Amino acid sequence: MLKLFEINEEKNPKDRIDELRQDIERYNYYYYTKNESLISDVEFDKLLKELDELEKNYPEYKNEHSPTNIVGASSLKESKFQKVIHKKPMLSLNNSYNIEDVIAFTERVEKNIDSVQSELEYVLELKLDGASISVTYENGELKRAVTRGDGIEGEDVTENILAIESIPNFLKEDVSLEVRGEIVLPLSRFKTLNEERLEVGEEIFANPRNAASGTLRQIDSEIVKERGLDAYFYFIVDAEQYGFKTHKESLEYLEKVGIKTTGVADIIRDMSVMEERIAFWEVEKERLDYETDGLVIKLNDITLWEEVGYTTKSPRWAIAYKFPAKQVTTELLDITWQVGRTGKVTPVAELREVELSGSKVKRASLHNMDEIIRKDIRIGDRVFIEKAAEIIPQVVSSVKEVRTGAEKEVVVPTNCPVCNSVLEKEEGLVDLKCVNPSCPAIVQGGIEYFVSRDAMNISGFGSKIVEKMLQLGYVKDIRDIFELHKHKDELMTLDKMGEKSVEKLLASIEKSKSRPYSKTLYALGIPFVGKFLGDVLAKKSKNIDCLASMSKEELLEIDGVGEKVAQSVYNYFRDEKSLEIIQKLKEFGINFGKVVEDKKDEVKVEGKFSGKTFLFTGKLQKFKREEIKDLIESLGGVNLSSVSKKLDYLIVGEDAGSKLKKAEELGTVKILTEDEFLELSK
Ligand code: IVH
Repeated sequence: MLKLFEINEEKNPKDRIDELRQDIERYNYYYYTKNESLISDVEFDKLLKELDELEKNYPEYKNEHSPTNIVGASSLKESKFQKVIHKKPMLSLNNSYNIEDVIAFTERVEKNIDSVQSELEYVLELKLDGASISVTYENGELKRAVTRGDGIEGEDVTENILAIESIPNFLKEDVSLEVRGEIVLPLSRFKTLNEERLEVGEEIFANPRNAASGTLRQIDSEIVKERGLDAYFYFIVDAEQYGFKTHKESLEYLEKVGIKTTGVADIIRDMSVMEERIAFWEVEKERLDYETDGLVIKLNDITLWEEVGYTTKSPRWAIAYKFPAKQVTTELLDITWQVGRTGKVTPVAELREVELSGSKVKRASLHNMDEIIRKDIRIGDRVFIEKAAEIIPQVVSSVKEVRTGAEKEVVVPTNCPVCNSVLEKEEGLVDLKCVNPSCPAIVQGGIEYFVSRDAMNISGFGSKIVEKMLQLGYVKDIRDIFELHKHKDELMTLDKMGEKSVEKLLASIEKSKSRPYSKTLYALGIPFVGKFLGDVLAKKSKNIDCLASMSKEELLEIDGVGEKVAQSVYNYFRDEKSLEIIQKLKEFGINFGKVVEDKKDEVKVEGKFSGKTFLFTGKLQKFKREEIKDLIESLGGVNLSSVSKKLDYLIVGEDAGSKLKKAEELGTVKILTEDEFLELSK
């Protein structure tokens, strides 16, 4: 088995060629026949490119059966369907990954045309990630549908295609034509399908493409109907014969006769516009209800296609632009256990460094032990990683097929990796916790959180410095930060801490004392109180004493505060240690809200709307949003941000949508027009 992580330069070319062919065939087999990816597309292309270059440099080893000459194929040997030879081969596309590759492609196209009369146009389309299909209509009637197979011969899945609602059985014109497109499972369907499968204990589909191609090969077309497949077409075989001059025209014709296209066919003449549109679709694709793995760029003038030509595998007049890989594989070298500021102990994957969406990744999250077990991840495995929400890398799965037997199972720690105290697991929860409040990792995490930009915004206090101060004993908890000036001389002697940086640090500490109350509240690190809730709680309490004196019920009345948060805030202010810390911070002059004599009077405005909650939705004609909010609050009412049982009145403007619907469903909310609301406020 080929090791992706080894440098293969020393191998003799013949051996390397054999090795590459064998492995590429294996990857193709898994991808096309078993619907499983053993490596990412980028890595696959790298291997294919290496093989292609070796074959060019050593033509004596060329071979017509090499994967560089054959379109990846699903094995038809085990097929339950009748095999059909395609009238014209179903080709693949060459891939590109950046604008330079695309420009090089357009230059190659131009070079292949003898007389370029005018500027060439390209069509930019979505590259759908599904299962390709070729559908033949005779005199307007759907006669046959065949999968791609090996590009030459595919499987007859006509019965199943007839069960897909969005593919017409009859066209709007009595034409005979063969069209090619992609069968996809909409993302919304994919989600519910997997939920249903989980419920009944069936194995879930890894991705919508697997689900689409698996469904297409169902023997029972009733199942196909239930699954809700969809289809989009992008190609007419021999389009020129129908008199079309451009690809765009042929796509418009498809729509005209009732064959669905994605509707995306941007005409591009200029490479800077190409770059812009690529960037646009990279973001916009997230809003589609089907998966796309890139874009396809095609020469618009189909009368030039023959001249530009074909390789054995793909047309030279089109290229795929692949979106940056969301997933790559690498080796899981080890697992370390990290203790966070809340004591939560989480497994972190130590990886062989790889590039992922433009950055180098060496560590990734493994979430918790339950996830490791569920995904059966072992040390030494080849693992797929991706960036969750495009930011934090995480391990998605391991590739069981390439295990050597030397992989080691992950052992759950019983003691804290930092302070060695025995770890606890809360009932019903999956996380392991260190419950020693003096655990250096917890203390350090708390301090780093306190000084961070969104909290006290103390600069010059990076994690290395925090660690040092803890080691030296200058800081034991957040209170000590405000007494650091007492150690000014010693601080200046520390490595990389000259007079200037110490002064800056001390000035920043001083300045932090006047941070807004919402920020100091957030900085305390009350469980579940993040930036948003810090703001909410600060708005609903004039100062920290008001907040500390609130009952659980009062906290629950605050919009955005649920059971978990209310309990957490309530508990925090009933803990001796927290109160001691707040008291000390107050003495240092930290801003914890306005100092008021009579808390209750200051917080609540009494008025007509006292005890009532309001929300408005849709376009208001008579008020600006801020005006109506102020009016409600000035009369003692409370503005909510969502419809819930807590809501008394919903004020409805033009084009009200889901909020109105939800309020009507609840049945407990009074619905008012703007005029009715005005009347009520008089
Ligand atoms: S054109 C000769 N257009 O991508 C024309 N293909 O990686 C070749 N695909 O086999 C295909 N969206 O299954 C074309 N807008 C699109 C496409 C598309 C998805 C698939 C198709 C093809 C594969 C090549």
